[in-house]
Amino acid sequence: MRTHYNTDLSLKNVGEEVTLCGWANSYRDHGGVIFIDLRDRSGLIQLVCDPKDSTKAHEVASLVRNEFVLIAKGKIRPRGEGLVNPKLKTGEIEVVVHTLIIENESAVVPFGINDESVNEELRLKYRFLDLRSNKLYDNFALRSKACIAARNSLANMGFLEVETPILTKATPEGARDYLVPSRVHQGEFYALPQSPQLFKQLLMCAGFDRYFQIAKCFRDEDLRADRQPEFTQIDVEMSFCEQKDVMKVAETFLKDIFKACGKEIQTPFRQMTYKEAMENYGSDKPDLRFDLKFVDVIDIFARSNNEIFANIAKDTRKNRIKAIRVPKGDTIFSKRQMQRFEEFVRKFGAAGLAFIQVKEDGLKGPLCKFFSEEDLKELSQRCSLELGDVVFFGAGVKKTVLDYMGRFRIFLAQELQIIDEEALEFLWVVDFPMFERNDDGSFSAMHHPFTMPKNIDESDLEEISSIAYDVVLNGIELGGGSIRIHKDEIQQKVFRLLNIDEVAQREKFGFLLDALSFGAPPHGGIAIGLDRLIMLVTKSSSIRDVIAFPKTQRAQCLMTQAPSAPSSEAMRELGLKLREKVK
Ligand code: AMO
Repeated sequence: MRTHYNTDLSLKNVGEEVTLCGWANSYRDHGGVIFIDLRDRSGLIQLVCDPKDSTKAHEVASLVRNEFVLIAKGKIRPRGEGLVNPKLKTGEIEVVVHTLIIENESAVVPFGINDESVNEELRLKYRFLDLRSNKLYDNFALRSKACIAARNSLANMGFLEVETPILTKATPEGARDYLVPSRVHQGEFYALPQSPQLFKQLLMCAGFDRYFQIAKCFRDEDLRADRQPEFTQIDVEMSFCEQKDVMKVAETFLKDIFKACGKEIQTPFRQMTYKEAMENYGSDKPDLRFDLKFVDVIDIFARSNNEIFANIAKDTRKNRIKAIRVPKGDTIFSKRQMQRFEEFVRKFGAAGLAFIQVKEDGLKGPLCKFFSEEDLKELSQRCSLELGDVVFFGAGVKKTVLDYMGRFRIFLAQELQIIDEEALEFLWVVDFPMFERNDDGSFSAMHHPFTMPKNIDESDLEEISSIAYDVVLNGIELGGGSIRIHKDEIQQKVFRLLNIDEVAQREKFGFLLDALSFGAPPHGGIAIGLDRLIMLVTKSSSIRDVIAFPKTQRAQCLMTQAPSAPSSEAMRELGLKLREKVK
């Protein structure tokens, strides 16, 4: 229908006859002449409907309201002296309309397109209107570029795109499964894939050598700003590879994706072990856009004559005492702020938050009296303290201290406004433990049970590490992967350590064990969270801004009202009956 998109036009088109299509973004009646800002996918252009040029077009224009769908035919002319709008790409020109067609009317819209102050619930209910905004369109334009770049990059490296099933069997990635009842096999259910993990391994067993997929994954877990119940991974698997080969492939396609999004990134990325990340930053996904590294001071506190700290310091396996130095913190923070800091860490299990200030006449704070002069000097040296600094201490059980000090580190950086919002700090975290202990004393796989352990014969399960790696960007886990177990006896041993007996092994993973027994090649891979990646590139605060039709934090679609109750007919066919509602 159209001859041009609005923003294709400029002064060079003056005098040309054009046909433009789009929506009435706004309209103004200026003493008989009606101005309409016509919006199409590219942007805005001003239509001028003057009865002197066309009484008919002017008549139609008087009926136009916001979001009416219009087809406008007319001539491009330069805007008059002093009427140029520098904010618009087409601000130097306008269209003198001779024919205006209202192709469709619009009900009064519940919010202005591009109005960012509208609450998210309303925006999600009318998502089709929300998606008319420039900001969201730009996010999806970038997402599309990223997907195309990923495909091209992986195809160039010899990867084959293969689709794997959506109606499948449970794939343990640590969340609950979404289940789909079978009509044909009543009482039996498919699970939606939490990831294509096992299928991609089977493709390696099939000799496909290099696989990728832009794959939908489904996980029934508590939602957060960077989590959705259905999300997309750039999923990759390759054979006859080591960890460094997978990393190289991931760095290459990430570089290509960022390039397509207009950003240059440096490869190879830094690497850090899981242990270093936890001990120095209190997180397995440290944000390295700022420093504020922990300093271990447990040995110095062991010599203090404060009973609580000295007791904590006795058990260096179970406990930790960590310091965070804030350069010039004493001159930046008020007493009241410091009290707020304590309230913050208490929310995450801290008993308190001790601190020492560096004044003209030395170290000050209630803690100081418990240390000898020499130990204060050592503390000062180890933490590199200078005049005007403040140093905070977290002490207690290792897991709790690392967690709250890690959160406090980020909180401090935000308070200090030292996070470089333009930086892209990539990091590989490597050497993850194979297992983690649950609160009830049992063990789960830290990545998934198909990850290759390094020292499987170690008797202390917590000491077994794995060939698993995560890629982190600006403190967010962007992706994760591992080298897989390709020998059935190792796989069975891992299952046994996870308390999955032989009957359950056959029932749940018989097909995998079979495949491993028929000459499975060494293989490994990675999956990058595409939604998180786009969220970071577009600097969106929520993953919902980069998913066309997202769910709320309560896993609902406010537009379609999913999930909803099935008809009694559907339930009968499926052989299902609802029990009392579980609240
Ligand atoms: P993992 O479970 O670490 O690994 O997932 C890989 C990446 O997927 C993203 N992600 C999510 N994004 C949005 N919402 C969610 N609920 C969500 N859950 C995960 C994250 C994460 O880093 N099969 C393995 C990969 C492998 O071993 O190759 C897997 O799925 O960015």
